[in-house]
Amino acid sequence: MAKLKRVLSGMRPTGRLHIGHYFGALSNWLKLQEEYECFFFVADWHALTTHYEDTSSVAENTVQVATDWLAVGLDPAKSTLFIQSQVLEHAELHVLLSMITPLSWLERVPTYKEQIENLKDRDLGTYGFLGYPLLQSADIVMYGEPNQELLVPVGEDQAPHVELTREIVRRFNTHFGFEADPCLFDGKHVEQLRDMGKRITFPPTLQDAALPAEETLARNPWIFKWWAAQIGFENFLQEIGEPNEKYFRMQAVLREPAYLAAETPRLPGLDGRRMAKSYGNAIWLSDPPAEIRTKILKHMVTDPQRVRRTDPGRPEVCPVFAYHKLFSRPDVIAWSDQGCRTAGIGCVECKNAMADNLIKWIEPIQTRRKEFEAHPQQVWDILDAGSDQARKAAKRTMQRVRNAIFKWDHARKAAKT
Ligand code: TRP
Ligand code: SF4
Repeated sequence: MAKLKRVLSGMRPTGRLHIGHYFGALSNWLKLQEEYECFFFVADWHALTTHYEDTSSVAENTVQVATDWLAVGLDPAKSTLFIQSQVLEHAELHVLLSMITPLSWLERVPTYKEQIENLKDRDLGTYGFLGYPLLQSADIVMYGEPNQELLVPVGEDQAPHVELTREIVRRFNTHFGFEADPCLFDGKHVEQLRDMGKRITFPPTLQDAALPAEETLARNPWIFKWWAAQIGFENFLQEIGEPNEKYFRMQAVLREPAYLAAETPRLPGLDGRRMAKSYGNAIWLSDPPAEIRTKILKHMVTDPQRVRRTDPGRPEVCPVFAYHKLFSRPDVIAWSDQGCRTAGIGCVECKNAMADNLIKWIEPIQTRRKEFEAHPQQVWDILDAGSDQARKAAKRTMQRVRNAIFKWDHARKAAKT
């Protein structure tokens, strides 16, 4: 039986993944794959939007990401795991969406200005960089089916991209799924249209029609569509005083996705900041146990106010304690909490106990990882099979999209008769 909801998410090919990726995203994906129809992909085109100069490690990083996915338990029998660039339909949809996307919508995406500020060493003056949230929109709506909910589990920083996608979908559906019944050009809606003409900015080609006489109106039925595209189909029906879809219909060619917030808390890095490759504060899923312990003992920060062994500490500000909460049993968490506050235990003791538990937790992940490392061909086979499967879903969507824009079916049928 078809699963109730679709889930779509992607990651850039940044290389090996760390435990921050696990708790920030993958643990959520693992739950989702049990319940929903999931598509997860490596966004290798997205890597080019910021790093086109050097593509030498994209392929290797793609395998590393996929190997970590498989290591943590993403299961190709349950989820479709694929590579973006192996499904060319994403590029086609991107180009079609780009036709209806106002530049201003892209310029106001928060990550656009932020990244230009933050990544001063990169050339971000490309179309690819400006357009990457739209590429992401194409990635997302590609996997929407008209009658199936579509969920996008991503970090908070990506929520505006899902919101942009929703706006694009509404605009697309109004432009290409809008139908007006010809019998409405009986003069009935002229008053509303006069009123509308004063409030809506029309494109130059429609400016005459914006102050409609009945005939202009009849000759320009898509003036209605333009109105609907600006204010949204629902609002349009309200404003025109036709709350039912008697004269106007809109076919949902593309499905609006919903943002799915992860419930997992953010995991601090060794230095207490957000865990990130660029900060050098990560514990990698593939770090050997001895290295994990060294990182924790030598580099992990603790409560800065606990300078001497005899100073009581505050577990709530200590990253070590945040890790205890994820990796240790309740009695050990209580032991650390209590021991810290009363200076009953030392930080080295506390760290060692946590390291033991982290290493125990990570062991099965590393065992699986080693199996896939020994057979890298398996990883490629899984990604190839997943890409084939994703392409099938993508082709269905593109059929609807092409038909909505170009009315292929109509044209071909006419050719036959
Ligand atoms: N932009 C996302 C990131 O940087 C990756 C991504 C690309 C993505 N396409 C997507 C995530 C579609 C979710 C859905 O992390
Ligand atoms: Fe952190 Fe543990 Fe030291 Fe307290 S005892 S400051 S929780 S490492």
